[in-house]
Amino acid sequence: MARKFLAGNWKMNGNRAALDEVRRLIAAHPEPTVDLVLCPPATLIAEMAELTRGHALQIGAQDCHSAEKGAHTGDISAPILADAGARHVILGHSERRADHNETDSQIAGKLAAAQAAGLTPILCIGETLQQRDQGQTLDVVTAQLSGSIPKITDPERIVVAYEPVWAIGTGRVAAPEQIAEVHDALREALHHRFGHRAKDIPLLYGGSVNPGNAAAIFAVDNVDGALVGGASLKAGDFGAILEALQAA
Ligand code: PGA
Repeated sequence: MARKFLAGNWKMNGNRAALDEVRRLIAAHPEPTVDLVLCPPATLIAEMAELTRGHALQIGAQDCHSAEKGAHTGDISAPILADAGARHVILGHSERRADHNETDSQIAGKLAAAQAAGLTPILCIGETLQQRDQGQTLDVVTAQLSGSIPKITDPERIVVAYEPVWAIGTGRVAAPEQIAEVHDALREALHHRFGHRAKDIPLLYGGSVNPGNAAAIFAVDNVDGALVGGASLKAGDFGAILEALQAA
C-alpha cells in the first residue's frame, strides 16, 4: 500500500502575509499521520521551510529546470530549490503544459533533474474535456505517464497526480467512477514499468478537491491522496481535507 499523501499547490497565489495560514495549519495539526506538503511560489520556499522546521509539513516547488545550473534567466534548478529547503517539486502541471508548451520529454528531463537533486517529483497528468469526450482519456494519461517518466527513475521517490484539466479550478470534480477507472489504469501502467514497487507509489487525485467532496474521493480504490489548488490556500479548508485523508 502506498503511503497517504496530501499536497497543496498555491500556484501564483500567496505572499508573505499568507504565512499566517501555514502557522495556523501546523498549530491545528501538530502531528499529521499522512505525508503533507505545501508548494508555495518559489519566493516563499526558504521562509516556509524555516517556519515549518521541526514539523512534518514539507515544502515543495511548482516547477524546476532540467539543467543543474547555467545561463537560463528566470528559471530555477532543482539543486537551488533543494538548497532553499524544498523536498518536493510539482512537474508537468497542466497549467505549465498549456502556458509554457511543456512536453512529456521536457518534463521527463525535469523529473530526472529533480530526483538527482534529492527532490521527490509530483508528476501531473490529465486529459482535456475534448479528449475525454472523444474517449481518449486512458490513452492520453498513460501516454503522458510513460512519456514523462525518464528511463532511470527511482520509483521510491515519485508521486503521480491525476488531474483532469476540466476539473481544475472549475468546481467540477470528477465522479468517483471516473477517478477509479483512471487510477486503476495508472496503477496497472506503473506495475508494468516498476513491478511490485508500483504499489508504493502514491496516486493523487487533483481538481476542485474541497472539504465537502474529499471523503468521497479518498474512498475510491487506488486513491492515496490529493493535490489541492484553491482549497490549500486556507488553513481551515486544507486542514479539513487533511482530516478526511487521515480518517480514510
Ligand atoms: P484546484 O487545482 O484544486 O484549484 O482545482 C488543483 C491543481 O491544479 O492542482
